[in-house]
Amino acid sequence: MKILLSQLVVIIAGGATAFSPDGRLSGSRGLPPSAGTTTTRRRVAFVSIVNRHAQGTIGYADDDVPKDGNRSEMGKFVSAMRDMYSDLKDGGGSIRRQMNGVGFTYVSPVISSTGGNKQLDGAWRHQKPTLVGVDEDLSDIQRGIIQERFRKAQSSSTHPLLVYLPGLDGFGISATAQFDDLSKTFEFWRMTVNLESTHVSFSDLVVSVVKFVTESASIMGSIDSPREVIIVGESFGGLLACAVAMALKNGQSNTCYVLKGMVLVNPATSFDETIWERVVPVLTSLRYLESQEKVTDDSEKSRFAFLNSLPTPYSVMGALALAATVPSGTQYSSILNFLQQTLTTTSAESMLSASLDGFGILAEYLSPAMLDQRVMKWIPVGSSVVNNPQRLSKLNVPTLIIGGRDDKMLPTRNEAERLGQLLPNCVVMDIAGAGHFLLDTGFNLTEVLIDSHINPLNSKKENYDPISDWMLPPDDIVKAVIKKRVVPLRERTSPVFFSTDPVTGKRRRGLSHIPSTKKPLLFVANHQLFGLDLGMIISELLEQRGIMARGLAHPVAMEGFAREEQMTGLERPIVRKQKRRWEFNDEDSQFQGDLFSMFGAVKVSPRNFYHLLQTNQTMLLFPGGVREVFHRKGEAYQIFWPEKTDFVRLAAKFNTIIVPLAAIGAADSAEMVLDAPELLQLPFGLGASLANFSSSTVSARFDAQNEDELFIPPLTLPKPFPARHYFLFGKPFDTSSLDPKNLDACQDVYKAIESELKYDISALLEARKDDPFALDGIKRTSYQRLFGKDPPTFPLDSLKSSM
Ligand SMILES: *[C@@H]1O[C@H](CO)[C@@H](O)[C@H](O)[C@H]1NC(C)=O
Ligand SMILES: *[C@@H]1O[C@H](CO)[C@@H](O)[C@H](O)[C@H]1NC(C)=O
Ligand SMILES: *[C@@H]1O[C@H](CO)[C@@H](O)[C@H](O)[C@H]1NC(C)=O
Ligand SMILES: *[C@@H]1O[C@H](CO)[C@@H](O)[C@H](O)[C@H]1NC(C)=O
Repeated sequence: MKILLSQLVVIIAGGATAFSPDGRLSGSRGLPPSAGTTTTRRRVAFVSIVNRHAQGTIGYADDDVPKDGNRSEMGKFVSAMRDMYSDLKDGGGSIRRQMNGVGFTYVSPVISSTGGNKQLDGAWRHQKPTLVGVDEDLSDIQRGIIQERFRKAQSSSTHPLLVYLPGLDGFGISATAQFDDLSKTFEFWRMTVNLESTHVSFSDLVVSVVKFVTESASIMGSIDSPREVIIVGESFGGLLACAVAMALKNGQSNTCYVLKGMVLVNPATSFDETIWERVVPVLTSLRYLESQEKVTDDSEKSRFAFLNSLPTPYSVMGALALAATVPSGTQYSSILNFLQQTLTTTSAESMLSASLDGFGILAEYLSPAMLDQRVMKWIPVGSSVVNNPQRLSKLNVPTLIIGGRDDKMLPTRNEAERLGQLLPNCVVMDIAGAGHFLLDTGFNLTEVLIDSHINPLNSKKENYDPISDWMLPPDDIVKAVIKKRVVPLRERTSPVFFSTDPVTGKRRRGLSHIPSTKKPLLFVANHQLFGLDLGMIISELLEQRGIMARGLAHPVAMEGFAREEQMTGLERPIVRKQKRRWEFNDEDSQFQGDLFSMFGAVKVSPRNFYHLLQTNQTMLLFPGGVREVFHRKGEAYQIFWPEKTDFVRLAAKFNTIIVPLAAIGAADSAEMVLDAPELLQLPFGLGASLANFSSSTVSARFDAQNEDELFIPPLTLPKPFPARHYFLFGKPFDTSSLDPKNLDACQDVYKAIESELKYDISALLEARKDDPFALDGIKRTSYQRLFGKDPPTFPLDSLKSSM
């Protein structure tokens, strides 16, 4: 049986979702309003049951999809949860060290992956630990570990010691999907808090972790060659990790360890500013509801009255305090999906009673008293220790903060920014679509850690070189991105591509006349208004000809406009960001910078241009730069090349073949209201501040002076239907016989390419007069709807041959 852990967690979590801090039931969205009876109310509260198989990705294997989610199905589910907790507590590792109410469990590297669901079928679960007392000598054990690692992981060096600190549940149920991979790459120990030890204080926790780390490190490490240690803390564990790091740093001179890095996942460091303040009193009062004790205060009573209709109030609410509880948007919608399917076939009563068992387990592993203790004692003490800006700013440890953007439990996003600014060596990773529970199977912590600035395996190159180190993303990513970002543009602009026979100068539809050569190509194009066609050009070359042309983009296209702070003069330290491999972010990248660099675009600069040529890479250059992108009124399809002939001389040095590329369509797709010079005349200081903005923006055309460039986008209104786009790859210019030192010859070639480009643009403008679909967007769209494909374009005869 395969059930997702997130299912378990969200069963609980859903309960949390059903309750929002302002006391309203919020879990019932999407379901019919309750009739007010206890049963239906319960059903509403139970919206929380989740099953990811509704999402189709993970969860039940197809053959054991429950026909009805009846009690026995739920029973299995509950027992899976019980097993998981039991493994976390007593199994799940090969060595367990006990100290002061805290256990540290070493997970042996897993040889072969079971291939199953990482969250529930992790191989780590099959290990049975040997217990080691606090006074026992660790040396032999540590040596055993190292030998085992040499054997299994076939590694010749010592792996960093990685300690995982769980959230408030004390077991780390939310991170189980990561354990197998972590155990392979690191000497991985996970901390648990013993159930029996009810009076462990925050400082006990800190002392235990510090003791564990220093002792373990001292066996294999020495002052000359210190052991590298990485601390990973999730939720409350993040708070603990900071405190531990502070303590370790304090003692860190002449030690056998070096704190290599720290990872904070949705850290609960922001106690002061969060809903916790409101949640804690609720949580603690639940105890009374559970034990039927009277809440005497009337206002309290009415505040919590609705809780009586929920299944075991404590169990639902206790969930909030678990490490990872609040589901993300995706997880949440899969809950609703599942319910819509399940509730029709199952009696809510039978599911409910099974779920009560599940909540019972929670009470078993996190009793009200324990929860009370932890929430009330650990978090406030922890935050008072850690949340001191001065102390934080001295905590010079490479730190990676991973935050779920949709974390509903903690204001993680702001907290990540805040910590990112305080901590001296911190990188923030913001996971779109993830909630407080983010270390699920969709996330690979090991990979993220390896890629991070912590550089745990010292495997990263000091500096990534975007010219020589860049690689095209895997095929499926390329396809997905094109589908998402380019296909909609294609649909709207019905682009047509032509290429030119190098010998006869005749044109042909498609890209087949672009020279096939081992030599690098240099495409030189006119820059269209706003430059939005870049994606269409790059993807067409890639799909039709397998040519990967690297765009030389304007710095602003790569990095976005000057930051608001710079414009307003309020400079704040900029928090460094890490992305997942191949991640590109739709919401943030207004200027597609992420996407551009993912597809190999680099900032236009003489150095980058030279370096690309030197490494024989094909590229796409817009010599007219921003002057063309943001052209003025009446300048549509004019080209503005610099006087200097640099790009031809450099191309000749490397025997490049230059192919002009004429593009039209964009300027006919927008109505220009005011262009740059007109904008500068705006009253009320608006014009002046635009001028300031322009002059503070980097020069883009690498051989142009800044003042040549008014970096001001014209004020335009898009037309409802964009014009058809046409692209014409012109006659190639082979520079192998051109002497780069012969300036006159270079000048001639430069002028020839420029004229060819101008000629090709006008040829396209002329030819499109014969395309009834060129400017009439309505007509084109109707055709597309009717025939399901782009309409034909002008006859090939209309397009004049090359000069
Ligand atoms: C639950 O489902 C199984 C198989 O679908 C069935 O055999 C069993 O009788 C059902 N139990 C209840 C209590 O409905
Ligand atoms: C996670 O990343 C590591 C390191 O790149 C890799 O070895 C492992 O297979 C990945 N795990 C999954 C589930 O993809
Ligand atoms: C580029 O191509 C030239 C000529 O084909 C070759 O000599 C040179 O080694 C290549 N450089 C790289 C970095 O591949
Ligand atoms: C432009 O910048 C100058 C100097 O940086 C400043 O004195 C002036 O007030 C700015 N003008 C506007 C309108 O922002």
